[in-house]
Amino acid sequence: MELKTVLYEKKDNVAWITMNRPDVLNAQNAQLRNDMLAALDEARLDDEVYIIVLGGAGRAFSAGADISEWPKMFPMDTLKDFYGNRRFYELMRAIPKPIIAMVNGYALGGGCEAVMACDIVIASEKAKFGQPEVKIGIIPGGGGTQILPRLIGEKRAKELVMTGDFITAQEAWQMGLVNKVVPPEKLLEATQEMVAKLKTQSPVTLKFCKLAVNKSLQLPLDEGLKAEQDIFALCFSTEDQKEGAKAFLEKRTPKYKGK
Ligand code: COA
Repeated sequence: MELKTVLYEKKDNVAWITMNRPDVLNAQNAQLRNDMLAALDEARLDDEVYIIVLGGAGRAFSAGADISEWPKMFPMDTLKDFYGNRRFYELMRAIPKPIIAMVNGYALGGGCEAVMACDIVIASEKAKFGQPEVKIGIIPGGGGTQILPRLIGEKRAKELVMTGDFITAQEAWQMGLVNKVVPPEKLLEATQEMVAKLKTQSPVTLKFCKLAVNKSLQLPLDEGLKAEQDIFALCFSTEDQKEGAKAFLEKRTPKYKGK
């Protein structure tokens, strides 16, 4: 795998993926989107990777789509371009492994949409979130008008999308877009703590957790509850379910195999 704009490091069953165009605040051009697809696919297919952490190099998580590509763009170009964009977020939602966003700074436009596609979000107090597309004559194109209202509610989403205003990490936490806000110097440590917590669980059970909760964003309640019932039943086919129950009864820590 040859990556030009993304760093990939695998360590102790965790894939650390870092968007790496710091000079332009990790703006997402076609190269970065392709690199993200390759890096995410590598992590998806690697059985030794249980958890993925997504971050940004420099002072931003990502300031969104690379606007320099846009003055000459026409509708058919955007369809081609955004197909790649959507795939990157869709792949994140589809990968059956937890993805933690480690948000150091700006998460705007496509950067905010990448945050939405992660499962758990740890943010620095310095982070800023927003959908500023309206200010350059467009609407969000990677979930900002569809996923965001489901996460923070219609009115708040409309305010963000219509004003293009940025919100602080604390405000994003209050709205439910962020799980935890920490001082900048504690961002890595807080992320590692979350990684450690998730690593005590069975990777196969985490997969089912993600699949089941993702259904709640896609399905009407009755269908979602049915999907939950099916996934719940599937848990009983795993060795880790037997081990989890046994370990509890024997008052010991479970030894999970991810099977
Ligand atoms: N696309 C392309 N380049 C971008 C970019 C983007 N989305 N966001 C930032 N950059 C570039 C800037 O052009 C600048 O490049 P330069 O040094 O060659 O001039 C560099 O990144 C640093 O950004 P700058 O604007 O100087 O930093 P700042 O701290 O003053 O402002 C932001 C930071 C995030 C507020 C501002 O860069 C911004 O509003 N970016 C656009 C965000 C956006 O609209 N995203 C949605 C796109 S659809």
